[in-house]
Amino acid sequence: MRVLVVGAGGREHALCWALAASPLFDEVLCAPGNDGIARDAECVPVAAEDLDGLVQLARERAVDLVVVGPEAPLVKGLVDRLEAVGIPALGPTAAAARLEGSKGFTKELCFRLGIPTARARSFTAAEAEAARAWIRTHGAPIVVKADGLAAGKGVVVAATVEEAFEALDAAFGGAFGEAGRRVVIEEFLEGEEASLFAITDGETVRPLGTAQDHKRAFDGDRGPNTGGMGAYSPTPALDEALAEEAMARIVEPAIRGLADQGLRYRGILYAGLMLTSEGPKLLEFNVRFGDPEAQVVLPRLMSDFGEIALAAAEGGLRHVGVRFGPEHALTVVLASRGYPGSYPKGTEIRGLERLEGREGVLVFHAATRHEGGRWLAMGGRVLNVTGLGRSLREAHDRAYSAVEAIDWPEGFWRRDIGWRALARDEH
Ligand code: AMP
Ligand code: GLY
Repeated sequence: MRVLVVGAGGREHALCWALAASPLFDEVLCAPGNDGIARDAECVPVAAEDLDGLVQLARERAVDLVVVGPEAPLVKGLVDRLEAVGIPALGPTAAAARLEGSKGFTKELCFRLGIPTARARSFTAAEAEAARAWIRTHGAPIVVKADGLAAGKGVVVAATVEEAFEALDAAFGGAFGEAGRRVVIEEFLEGEEASLFAITDGETVRPLGTAQDHKRAFDGDRGPNTGGMGAYSPTPALDEALAEEAMARIVEPAIRGLADQGLRYRGILYAGLMLTSEGPKLLEFNVRFGDPEAQVVLPRLMSDFGEIALAAAEGGLRHVGVRFGPEHALTVVLASRGYPGSYPKGTEIRGLERLEGREGVLVFHAATRHEGGRWLAMGGRVLNVTGLGRSLREAHDRAYSAVEAIDWPEGFWRRDIGWRALARDEH
């Protein structure tokens, strides 16, 4: 059978790597992929948001399954288009993808179903006065979010009421484009953040691992927010009991609630949680795997990801178990200096060949080009170096000693990935 992965980053490399290892699939395609992914899949130059091109590719190559990495093609309706031509896909339809595409939609679902989350209200630009009044009533700290997809930049955790007003003016003034014409203002939640992954065919819901990522660019969780500078799995903060509670109170009710509305959710569901003194509360749903969380969750999976993905896409997940090994995984993101701002392209990365076949080390490429025998950096987040080990410490040491073997003066990475869990383990 043949599987097509949509996307071009480190997450998609991990997906291709896991699917290449599946006995079910003898061919893995990736659109558009990158030159690092090309070692595990056949990369085809069709952009991840070119729905016509993707549907055409899937038909021409008689693909049996499409696995969608990023949210944008899901929100645009790629899965609806594939369903219309009878090609199974792992990912929700556009209507169900509103779980990520619209914060207001998700809040409403949570309130209706009693899913624990921050109290919140949504306001349009015409309701600016009411929004200010709500902020005054609740006081700071308070959180102001653009309603739509704003590439992770639409959230302001305001320390003061004035700061919240500024965030409101910026959103209504068009700072986040259309995504900010409606805002959600919500209560500030205190606690540790953790991510819970699940996979579902719309009926059966299976947990698919836990992780914590590091969103800030620099050590000590300082600097600007990024897509994620590293991650580890499992996370001790979200132990088995808490993960079960979050599955039962947050993830499963959401999938059932959507089904009751006539929206069948098939795919991976990523719950961003705040572990508060009152238990796990939902910060946000994402309708896809995390990046770089997939790079630590998938390598720990003992079950065949190909079988799980196909069962979720076609229905029948109840027949398939999801089992993890005892290993820990930790990934370090290597980024171009300047990211998440502007950065040069085409700088050379040396030493990658030293990591080939190294025990307990996997390298996932997020944005590289292979040209004339040289590896070049072509994006912001460029490489993920994942270490695996019997303990988080061992996974950490393997990842970092591999990173040290890479020679890339124009790159940077955090040196403290996993610090929170390592400190917890070792005290
Ligand atoms: P979101 O994109 O909604 O996950 O928000 C991005 C980040 O903002 C989260 O990862 C949290 O660090 C923070 N955040 C969002 N909502 C809240 C909240 N209600 N209370 C505290 N922090 C929040
Ligand atoms: N690493 C965070 C995300 O994928 O949304």
